[in-house]
Amino acid sequence: MTGFIFDLDGVIVDTAKYHFLAWKKLANELGFEFTEEQNELFKGVSRKRCLEILLDIGNIKSNQEQFDTWMVQKNLDYLEYIEKMNESEILPNVPKILKYLKEEGFPIALGSASKNARPILEKVKLLPYFDVIVDGNSVTKAKPNPEVFLIAAEQLGVVPENCIVFEDALAGIEAANIAGMTSIGIGDEKTLSKADFNFNDFTEISLEFIEKLVNSK
Ligand code: G6P
Ligand code: MG
Repeated sequence: MTGFIFDLDGVIVDTAKYHFLAWKKLANELGFEFTEEQNELFKGVSRKRCLEILLDIGNIKSNQEQFDTWMVQKNLDYLEYIEKMNESEILPNVPKILKYLKEEGFPIALGSASKNARPILEKVKLLPYFDVIVDGNSVTKAKPNPEVFLIAAEQLGVVPENCIVFEDALAGIEAANIAGMTSIGIGDEKTLSKADFNFNDFTEISLEFIEKLVNSK
């Protein structure tokens, strides 16, 4: 049996722009700029680690209390954007692929670093497609550590070699590769060159491709 594991941010929904706006607001309040280019480094990276990198960029020292306050503040700003999300923000062709996998009876998991994964899936009404959700609340080791995908595979009851992972972050592709899974990069081919297969987005992924991939397992 083949199992499918999806990352969330940048694969199912384009929430990277909301993470960016929330981090940028915090950076500006702390008196420095934060660019979209720098935001690339934040993809697939935990909230805590993102804040550490942000403070490094701004050359800001903090004590634990300030650090915790900024983590909470960033998330509250991010959640304001999430509140307004709806199905229109699902990335193109994702529902078609999920529907196909569900109809064919493949087990489907979410493997994300986000602690907001469940509310986001609820907002865009995709929660029912997922048999298993492994997110930032259930893992301790961040990608490229393969923990998130290995737990997902175990909960799906599928051996790692038979899992196919969709990822938009280099750390996520590395995690899938280390786990011994098939990695599919969604996004910039140069950034994700370590993936087994590369696509710009899901509109380039045909059902025939998925069928062939499953048959090759
Ligand atoms: C994903 C995103 C990261 C984000 C992380 C934690 O991996 O790509 O940019 O920092 O999730 O998200 P959270 O919703 O828990 O702050
Ligand atoms: Mg991602």
